[in-house]
Amino acid sequence: MEIGVIGTGYVGLIQSVGLAELGHNVVGIEIDKEKIKNLNKGEATIYEDKLEELLKKNIGKNLIFSSDYKKLNNCGIIFICVGTPQSKEGKADLSYIFSAAKSIRNNLDENYKIVFIKSTVPVGTNRKVKDILRRKNIDVVSNPEFLREGNALFDFFNPDRIVLGFESEDKKTAKEKMLELYKNFDNKEIPFITTNWETAEIIKYTNNGFLATKISFINEIGNLCKKFGVDVYKVAEGIGSDKRIDKSFLNAGLGFGGSCFPKDVNALISIGKEVGEKPNLLEEVVKLNDRQPLKMLDLLRKKVPELKNKKIAVLGLAFKPETDDVRESRAIRLIEKLKDESAMIYASDPKAINSMKRMIPEGEKLTYLEDAQKAIDKSEIVLIVTEWPQFADLDYKDKLVMDGRNVIPKEKRKNLNYEGLCC
Ligand code: UGA
Repeated sequence: MEIGVIGTGYVGLIQSVGLAELGHNVVGIEIDKEKIKNLNKGEATIYEDKLEELLKKNIGKNLIFSSDYKKLNNCGIIFICVGTPQSKEGKADLSYIFSAAKSIRNNLDENYKIVFIKSTVPVGTNRKVKDILRRKNIDVVSNPEFLREGNALFDFFNPDRIVLGFESEDKKTAKEKMLELYKNFDNKEIPFITTNWETAEIIKYTNNGFLATKISFINEIGNLCKKFGVDVYKVAEGIGSDKRIDKSFLNAGLGFGGSCFPKDVNALISIGKEVGEKPNLLEEVVKLNDRQPLKMLDLLRKKVPELKNKKIAVLGLAFKPETDDVRESRAIRLIEKLKDESAMIYASDPKAINSMKRMIPEGEKLTYLEDAQKAIDKSEIVLIVTEWPQFADLDYKDKLVMDGRNVIPKEKRKNLNYEGLCC
């Protein structure tokens, strides 16, 4: 099938490469010319396992990237995958979505097309896009994505479900096309959830909102457990064995970051407030999440009251392992606080040093080191901020180790000057 994908960020790039790998002809549209140049050379613009390998395999054959919307004219199917960043008021900024819709309207021929919106968008957005397109022979379908960074290609090829929201639930053509699109998937059992636009839009936010709530919930229990000397990870194992609860997203620690959970929970709060239904629970989820890095510093101050000129290693800058993405990473909050207190920081991460340098440049009191062991050796205190598994194998010597992610195995802790955030 001939497919267009608008936007080459996380969602769009995975979608383009994934569909090309399934044998479809894909045109990826991007406005950033530098990005197009790199992608067409087979250079991935983000780090994701196997992404560059599959990009190189398909580029120039059945996959190209361009800034020319006219190239979408042959495509019966177009995916909008542009970003919906958080605006100042906490809402989703929809300007990229609307501008993509206008570009489709201004550049495309009159043939029948289906426009799938994969970007995370508030209730009513699919309807607005349909209004912008002003065409009868275009169907707009809400098709939220559930990819996790770091596992994005795996998730693309192994979706738990595919949600499709139609203008009215009887739009059969779009569903059939979607089934055809995924017919090469190995996993033939993928459940399709078909519904209307608004329900699909809410499903996406609720999904992220629920997972974020689960994290803040277990963090709250973790803070409580800490007071009683109870291991919250055992508690999580105990409750996670109940199928109704499930063990995933019960890893207590410094809280959630990334480009999705913080933005989407805030957007859901804004959506609720706009219609006079203030989501109190979600507001607490955000507050609790914002407090977790400060909890770690409070714990540290109990042991070392004065942090000025103290040499502190910060291990883990990415918002989670297996990515170079530092957006809303817990490390940002911690580094900024430590800088305010004039500590001497040695920061390390297997993948995210360059991304973090762009956000917080190196300086007199902040040094980035590729080698995490060196960061430890130079410091008196070590803060473990992201659960990269390799951090478990480092030699922490006699340093004070504050573990914000339950990284160090229990047997090893006995011989260390160790303090867990939640245990
Ligand atoms: C999340 C969702 O998991 C995806 O399904 C969704 O498609 C995506 O957002 C999106 O909306 O685009 P992602 O942001 O890549 O994916 O990361 P997650 O693996 O969900 O982790 C988010 C944050 O929660 C990370 O900072 C992680 O460290 C934290 N986390 C996760 C915990 O603190 N504890 C846990 O038990 C699990």
